[in-house]
Amino acid sequence: MLTKPSFRVGGVPVYGDLILSPMAGFSDLPYRSICRSLGSAMSYTEFVNVDELNKGRNGSPRARQKLCYISNERPVVFQIYGHDVERIVSVAQWLQDLGPDIIDINMGCYVKKIAERGAGAGMLRNPDMIARLMDKLTNVLDIPVSAKIRLGWDDDNRNYMDVARALHDHGASLVAVHGRTKSQAYSGRADWDAIAEIKQALSVPVVGNGDVRTVADIESIKTHTGCDAVMIGRAVIGNPWILQRRDRQEVTLSDRLDLIRKHLALNIDFYGVEKGLILFRKHVARYIEDTPAGVRKIRVPLLTCDRVSDFEDLLCSLVSETNETVGLAM
Ligand SMILES: Cc1cc2nc3c(=O)[nH]c(=O)nc-3n(C[C@H](O)[C@H](O)[C@H](O)COP(=O)(O)O)c2cc1C
Repeated sequence: MLTKPSFRVGGVPVYGDLILSPMAGFSDLPYRSICRSLGSAMSYTEFVNVDELNKGRNGSPRARQKLCYISNERPVVFQIYGHDVERIVSVAQWLQDLGPDIIDINMGCYVKKIAERGAGAGMLRNPDMIARLMDKLTNVLDIPVSAKIRLGWDDDNRNYMDVARALHDHGASLVAVHGRTKSQAYSGRADWDAIAEIKQALSVPVVGNGDVRTVADIESIKTHTGCDAVMIGRAVIGNPWILQRRDRQEVTLSDRLDLIRKHLALNIDFYGVEKGLILFRKHVARYIEDTPAGVRKIRVPLLTCDRVSDFEDLLCSLVSETNETVGLAM
């Protein structure tokens, strides 16, 4: 347990330097709380559309569910996206009453129907609008505001320094950077030099993100960029232990089964049996990915079973078939 904060977001202390990336369809309350208990230093919700939050009196139930959290997750960051400054500001104002520690604006989503409307990575095309948005948000909110950005729209428009300065000069308390442009989506390599450049220029914490797959990569991106923390996305799926600085091959079958059971139980608590089990399938597929033949044999039954007791029986059969004392060779 760290006694001294690794960094602060405005007045919010953060203990630790690894953070689960916000990921739509993955960063829900059950998975975030698991990741937080394994070592994620703060909890970002997946991005939530401000238009969904504008529906009815308190937002659509689906949008509101994405913002549920438990106190053990703190610091909790609500990540929202939209293209209209006034609407983002008015939603952020009432969201503050739900008790998040920080509100984050997504400026990195590359999905066409979002980015081309000027939300997500579409915001990067307009640093003046970003400045206006930050001015207004910091004016009306009592909690810190942050942003998660990409490097620009495309190779010809890598305006990340303008964006980073607009954020910094207009009150953002933290900037997380995925080192790719919008048009790259996930192609090529994340540009850690650009993250280093942003880190050098800003006095607020900078979080580096992109292509961290192993524990060695964590140390590399920190050394390369000087970033205050590292955000990890895809490599956490199926291996949340990376947040404890453990690579896949270091995780034993026993650890894996314990976590599968715990995660499934949390999913069922949060979503109910039917939905909880269905939403767990994508996780279990990744937890047992690349495992020995004895484990892979039950992959299809695990992914298709629709009763918790059947699921449990399958897990038990796994224990008897596989030598528990040996870590899974992956
Ligand atoms: C399935 C999935 C969903 C994502 N959803 C979000 C999101 O809601 N908000 C966000 O800022 N980034 C989102 N991202 C981007 C990640 O947070 C991260 O920036 C990106 O995956 C690069 O990091 P990585 O190389 O560690 O995966 C998503 C990525 C994936 C794979």
